Amino acid sequence: MSDTPVSVTDQGAIRRITVNRPDKLNALNAATLDALLAAFEAAAGDPAVRVVVLTGAGPKAFVAGADIAEISALSAVEGRDFSLRGQRLMRRIETLPKPVIAMINGFALGGGLELAMACHLRIASDNAKVGQPEINLGLIPGFGGSQRLLRLAGRAATLELCLLGAPITAERAYQLGIVNKVVAADALEAETTQWAEQLAQAAPLALRGNLDVIHVGGECAIEEGLQYESAQFGLMFSTEDMREGTRAFLERRKPQFAGR
Ligand code: COA
Repeated sequence: MSDTPVSVTDQGAIRRITVNRPDKLNALNAATLDALLAAFEAAAGDPAVRVVVLTGAGPKAFVAGADIAEISALSAVEGRDFSLRGQRLMRRIETLPKPVIAMINGFALGGGLELAMACHLRIASDNAKVGQPEINLGLIPGFGGSQRLLRLAGRAATLELCLLGAPITAERAYQLGIVNKVVAADALEAETTQWAEQLAQAAPLALRGNLDVIHVGGECAIEEGLQYESAQFGLMFSTEDMREGTRAFLERRKPQFAGR
C-alpha cells in the first residue's frame, strides 16, 4: 500500500492532485478525504497555481467510492460525520477560485462520481464507468451525489442511477451531461493537458468571476443571479487583465494575463 493517500505535483501553473490508493481502487477513507481537503486548500492559496487536475492512480480507477471496509462498522452518528466530512471536501472543490478538471481514468463510482461532480469540468476515458451504486450496499449517496447529479443530469437520470445502482458507460454519461468529453484511454492525458494549458493561460480573475457567477446562479433566483453577474462584470473593468485582453484583441496579438 502507498504511504501517502494523495500525491501532488506541479507542471508550470498546472497542479495535479492524485488519489493514491491504487490497490484499493483509490477508495476514499477518512485519511484520504482529509488529505484531499488539505491539497485543495493549498492549491486555493497558492498564487502560482492557475488550474487543478484531479485524477486517480493506477490504470483501473479514478475513485471506486467511499472506503466500504472503513464505513461498514460506523454508527449512525459516525455515518453522518463521515458524510459531512465528504461534503465539506466536495464544497471546497466546487467553490475553489480556480478551475478544477476531473480526469476520469476508470471507475468513478459512488464517492468517486461525487468527487468528479464537484469539479468544474470532467473528461473521461472511453473505458470509464460511472455510477451511484450505494443502493447495492443498503445506502444512499452521502457526499452530495443525490443533489449534484440531480442538478447536472436531471431527475430521470438521477433516479435511474441511484435506484438501479448500475454503472453506466462514459459515452452514456456524456449523453446525460454528466461528463463534458469522452476520449480514447490513450488520449486522456494529452486531451486533459490541452484543456489545463488553455486554462493556465486564461485570465485568472475572469476565470474566477465565471466560476463565482455560475456557482451562485445555480443556487439562487434568476433576478439575484443577474444582479450578481452585473456586479461581477463591472468588477472585471478594474482588472489589468481586462485592459490587456481588450487591447490585445484590438492590436491583433495574443494577450498575456497576469492575474491582476
Ligand atoms: N472500498 C473499499 N475497497 C474497495 C472499494 C471500495 N469502494 N472498491 C474496490 N475496493 C478494493 C477491493 O476490496 C479490492 O481489495 P483487495 O484486493 O484487498 O480485496 C481492490 O479494491 C480491487 O477491487 P476488486 O473488487 O477486486 O476489483 P474488480 O475489478 O473486480 O471490481 C469494481 C471493480 C469497481 C466493480 C468493484 O471493486 C466495486 O464494485 N467496488 C465498490 C464500488 C462501490 O460500491 N462504491 C460505492 C461505495 S459507497
